[in-house]
Amino acid sequence: MCEKCKGNFYITTPIYYPSDKLHIGHTYCTVATDAMARFKRLQGYNVMFLTGTDEHGQKIEDKAKEAGITPKQFVDNIVEGPRGVKDLWKLMNISNDRFIRTTDDYHVAAVQKIFKKMYENGDIYKGTYKGKYCKPCESFWTESQLVDGKCPDCGREVQDAEEEAYFFRLSKYADRVQDLLENTDFLEPRSRVNEMVNNFIKPGLEDLCVSRTSFSWGVPVDFDPGHVVYVWVDALFNYMTALGYMNDRHDDLKDFWPADVHFVGKEIVRFHSIIWPAMLMSMGLPLPKKVFGHGWLLLDGGKMSKSKGNVVDPYVLAERFGVDALRFFLLRTFPFGSDGNFSNEALISTINVDLANDLGNLVSRTVAMAQKYFGEKLPAQQLADEEKDAELVSMASGLRTRYEEQMEHYAFQNALAEIFKVISRANKYIDENAPWVLAKSEENKPRLARVLYNLLETVRICGGLLSPFMPATSEEIAKRLGGAAMDWDSLGVFGTLPCEVATVAGPALFPRIDMDKELAALEELTKPAVEEEEDPLPEPLPQIEFDTFEKVEMTVVKVLTCEAVKKSKKLLKFTLDDGTKEPRQILSGIAAYYKPEELVGKTLVAVTNLAPRKMMGQESCGMLLSAERGDKLQLVMLNDSVPAGSRLV
Ligand code: MSP
Repeated sequence: MCEKCKGNFYITTPIYYPSDKLHIGHTYCTVATDAMARFKRLQGYNVMFLTGTDEHGQKIEDKAKEAGITPKQFVDNIVEGPRGVKDLWKLMNISNDRFIRTTDDYHVAAVQKIFKKMYENGDIYKGTYKGKYCKPCESFWTESQLVDGKCPDCGREVQDAEEEAYFFRLSKYADRVQDLLENTDFLEPRSRVNEMVNNFIKPGLEDLCVSRTSFSWGVPVDFDPGHVVYVWVDALFNYMTALGYMNDRHDDLKDFWPADVHFVGKEIVRFHSIIWPAMLMSMGLPLPKKVFGHGWLLLDGGKMSKSKGNVVDPYVLAERFGVDALRFFLLRTFPFGSDGNFSNEALISTINVDLANDLGNLVSRTVAMAQKYFGEKLPAQQLADEEKDAELVSMASGLRTRYEEQMEHYAFQNALAEIFKVISRANKYIDENAPWVLAKSEENKPRLARVLYNLLETVRICGGLLSPFMPATSEEIAKRLGGAAMDWDSLGVFGTLPCEVATVAGPALFPRIDMDKELAALEELTKPAVEEEEDPLPEPLPQIEFDTFEKVEMTVVKVLTCEAVKKSKKLLKFTLDDGTKEPRQILSGIAAYYKPEELVGKTLVAVTNLAPRKMMGQESCGMLLSAERGDKLQLVMLNDSVPAGSRLV
């Protein structure tokens, strides 16, 4: 550690899956971590800020196959390629000290050693895995953990899985982990503690499956070929291998481990607050000091995800509105521990109100008045007015303390609110003191100089404390104040700026945005490049009598099994529960639209009194209803709660 430093501080983001380009949700987490890292540096800490990418797992293997390239080529492109992860962090002015990729050779070798050590000390053993697997989340679940039969994290379908596998004795650590969660501040916000204890520990913590044999894109278990290490074991240890644990690529473990805080999204709190400490306990290693589970950035009330097609591209936003405005918006608008709804309207309005109006105006007006009334420098002769100045001076003097208190609790929104209270007060101070009136008489010049000094000094303190959020803007403000000091000590002292401060004029920091025009432009941008042509409506059929319609028996059915029909490109064969004791067989020409496994368990509608007919030599007793238009087709699906055998009326 450097001699002058207050101490070491180690902070991490989760390592992101490079299965797709990152979106504004990922950017949110990294920007928050960056703000914290910059704040700690500002305070005088020696900071290690780590981010990276989590590159193994079946999803990435599948995606690479789809793209016809190797998994390594696939991740290389997303991580290092144009507009990839590294480019995004550069654009967003992220000040990470290190970037780890789980495919880095030193990390792979270290994970193998870690796995072996846990095996040798008896905490990893071989058994048979039987249960459910959620592929997108790379998570195994027991029946009891599923919510309505689906993945408790993402709500998607899970698959049956059974294979020989290694297990980690997670159950052995249940009591110690529960104690850690309940009796320390290890996990924050506190509300997440109850969630973990009630949903995962109290129902009984089962041993964790920590190897897979059904795919190969992972860290091989070196003493048992064919097994790869479960991606979460591989991923979690990144926080230590990046410092040199079990490798000699780095050598900072003694300075930075245990980590001060891991910032993670709320859906991965379970991995960080239960599995991660248990594995560290098993290895006899110190635990991180804190895990902070932040909320999600939602779009229209739902989570952003590529598969839902509702992601927001941070490149587009940063390029249109500026990096600092985007960074600021993310941390000013949403409380870090809770979910927040992202919208372009909210972004533009924050820029207009806080940045253009309040901050931007304060800086421009103050600098412009200083130059107009005094030229390059303020005069040394200044006249304070205790009564008129007291409130502003006291608010600006105490700002650093109030701000620090909030920042130490990761309450970014509150820390920014403190700054903006002072900015508003300063704008009011301009109106109260009316410098344009003071300027009219020579005798008021010393008072005018003091009013402007107080404003410039307030701008300096606010600008300096904004630096973790808007580093480039903060630098620009320092420049406009003639290269003013913005170090931590000076930000706690009102009166640091020299009396004869020399200001520098410049363009508006944040020009106002025309909301309607901008929203229209954004909409235009996000429209698909070529408008998809609507398929023509199908020709209407001749009318039928109600009696005829009534003769059609439409029944709710549940899919018991579904498989492709050999030698047929079109047909899928279903066995269905139609409410009777006998399963019903129906063949349907929908193979081009659905994979058989997606349909098992689904609730569909069938015409059940259609005379049986043979298709490809097999009997089909009825017809599944689907909606067709042009070349699109969708099965009619009902909510799972409708029982099989119900009649459509
Ligand atoms: N690879 C794992 C993490 C391993 S850490 C040892 C992973 N990756 S992820 O790419 O799916 O997500 C990484 C982080 O991004 C998570 O903390 C997640 O919560 C965050 N976010 C992804 N979408 C988000 C939002 N819409 N909003 C806020 N954060 C979001 O999980």
